[in-house]
Amino acid sequence: MQWQTILLQQHKGVGLITLNRPHALNALNNQLIIEINQALDLLEKDPTIGCMVLTGSEKAFAAGADIKEMLDLSFPQIYLDDFFSLADRIAQRRKPLIAAVSGYALGGGCELALMCDFIYCADNAKFGLPEVSLGVLPGIGGTQRLTLAIGKAKAMEMCLTARQMDAQEAEQTGLVVRVFPAEQLLAQTLQAAEKIAEKSLTAVMMIKESINRAFEVSLAEGLRFERRIFHSVFADADQKEGMRAFVDKRPAQFTSAKGHHHET
Ligand code: CAA
Repeated sequence: MQWQTILLQQHKGVGLITLNRPHALNALNNQLIIEINQALDLLEKDPTIGCMVLTGSEKAFAAGADIKEMLDLSFPQIYLDDFFSLADRIAQRRKPLIAAVSGYALGGGCELALMCDFIYCADNAKFGLPEVSLGVLPGIGGTQRLTLAIGKAKAMEMCLTARQMDAQEAEQTGLVVRVFPAEQLLAQTLQAAEKIAEKSLTAVMMIKESINRAFEVSLAEGLRFERRIFHSVFADADQKEGMRAFVDKRPAQFTSAKGHHHET
């Protein structure tokens, strides 16, 4: 695969996608969104991959959707093409996806990080939804996912004033899980991803699916969903292996996903 806007690496069960448009601070143009999805497609189909990581450069995770590409688009063009709908596919992934954010995560860049399952960031990270300054509004889920992540008042203030949040505040508000010195961010993120990749892929994917349910359905329905897939995990060999390994006092070897072949 010849990538123009990303780099893709795989190591120890982890797929690492690095945004690679340095001249535009990784602004999300159409090609970049297409390539992120192509890379995620490959990683999701690969039974040896248990976790995926999305990162940028030290200066910018991504400085937003590509303003130069959007400037002259007409309403019929963006409406008929359902502009940004391709980006939604990034949030619909079933394997875990971690964002490692260094530098700017603004506009679409912040929204891209919010589409990931959780965010680790560097101490130089800056988060913001500055679309209001461009005469528009966030269009890749920012008004929804930022509000769910940090609450109404803070999301409202950030989206209305275009203020940027630093790493410390991002950690305090729960937008990010942890802050690392910039030079440690990627290694720490890959370490967490490798830990996830060692687990049962079935269990990991069920956990992701079940947590995401909490945002969509009532508590009663969410609990019912969790209980039913909890029951179903007893049909998976990894449940026997995980519990047997505990009883035998040895590390578990999860393999049920390894022999799985995709049809597509
Ligand atoms: N789109 C297109 N190009 C961008 C870009 C973007 N979002 N952000 C930066 N670039 C380009 C710059 O135009 C510049 O290119 P040239 O060298 O050809 O002039 C290059 O990247 C470097 O940027 P700067 O010279 O501006 O770098 P800086 O260090 O002075 O400033 C910055 C960094 C504060 C992040 C500044 O680049 C900036 O404000 N960027 C735009 C941030 C923004 O408004 N993002 C929201 C976009 S709209 C959106 O995302 C809609 C949505 O909801 C999806």
